[in-house]
Amino acid sequence: MIITIDGPAGAGKSSVAKLLARRLGFRFLDTGAMYRAVALSGMREGLDWDRPGDLAELAGRIELRVEGERIFLDGEDVSAAVRATEVTAVTRYAADNPAVRAQLVALQRRAAAGQNIVSEGRDQGTVAFPDAECKIFLTAGPEERARRRLNELLAKNEPVTLEQVLAAQNRRDREDAGRRVGPLLPATDAVEVPTDGLSLEEVVAKLEAIAREKMRN
Ligand code: DC
Repeated sequence: MIITIDGPAGAGKSSVAKLLARRLGFRFLDTGAMYRAVALSGMREGLDWDRPGDLAELAGRIELRVEGERIFLDGEDVSAAVRATEVTAVTRYAADNPAVRAQLVALQRRAAAGQNIVSEGRDQGTVAFPDAECKIFLTAGPEERARRRLNELLAKNEPVTLEQVLAAQNRRDREDAGRRVGPLLPATDAVEVPTDGLSLEEVVAKLEAIAREKMRN
């Protein structure tokens, strides 16, 4: 069975998807980490971002492997490296590149083949797995998402303000919505779950109930 969880940055997809996968004994697929790893690789190679063909060629050349919650780039564990602020800033070059998207969607489908999986991203219910049995679209208001992100960054001692986090988030929302291929969009058969005011535990419990109901049918 495939469970897709899509939604905007800061809606809590990663934490929720990881926990849900653990509860159900499913594998977890973080597709954002794949786009981040392609961008990291491009950064390390000093690619010219204005040459999208070069990034697509690079994406076809590198070996990306996903093992549970970890991602490997040519054998190196880059799970922490892909979350660096510099990588986040250039990941849109990978996400906006249709040829890169096609390769990563193919990789996502290979990773999911024959597996029980919770796959998290922006286009999982629409493009990668249109036939998934259970599709969730996780939302939260902009203020709530920014507050959650701010707390994460402050916990890591990064000196940021709520205004800065909100501005960066608005930019990413615009990029996600405006992407020509694979934009952020709820699948028509997705269950929309607003998470404002809910704890992680409460959200996971909601999703687990939805997933178990789908499994029974
Ligand atoms: O969820 P995240 O922040 O790790 O995602 C990183 C970037 O990749 C983000 O800008 C959106 C993009 N992305 C995408 O376009 N499609 C996906 N399936 C997952 C992420």
